[in-house]
Amino acid sequence: MINEKMQAAFLDQINKELFSEYLYLSMKAYFADLNLMGFVNWMDVQVQEEHAHAMGMFDYVIERGGKVTLEAIDKPENSWKCPLDVFEHVLRHEEFVTSRINALMDVAEETKDRASLIFLNWYLKEQVEEEASVGGVLAQLKLIGDDKTALLALDKELATRTFVAPVIG
Ligand code: FEO
Repeated sequence: MINEKMQAAFLDQINKELFSEYLYLSMKAYFADLNLMGFVNWMDVQVQEEHAHAMGMFDYVIERGGKVTLEAIDKPENSWKCPLDVFEHVLRHEEFVTSRINALMDVAEETKDRASLIFLNWYLKEQVEEEASVGGVLAQLKLIGDDKTALLALDKELATRTFVAPVIG
């Protein structure tokens, strides 16, 4: 059975993953307003991934004999200066999430919960991929600057991203 401290840490992280889903949904709406449908697609995949991250922890807590209780989700930001500003925000946010996964692993170590440590390894690897993928788009946006034709070319590229349901754990 999962210990109380570990359960509380997972419940907090479920809330943060659901907030991530909400934040990317807000970014999806921002790009829809700009008619950048490739960016809309990229955010839509992100939304689905965050939902899967939250549900992975939700199911894990239950599997370990714990109890899930949900808290309110914070209001996400809903305006940005430009696509570059959005992706700088995404990278900051993902770096924050990485720090939280590390904090969860600290609790797993402290409480000698090896099962949770193994489970969280997946999330840590996922964060490395997330930061790399976001960093890639961010680097392209920096190169693009004010070039609208290049921005539309990137939009076309981002339209090809597809969601693959992750196998967590
Ligand atoms: Fe669930 Fe983007 O980290």
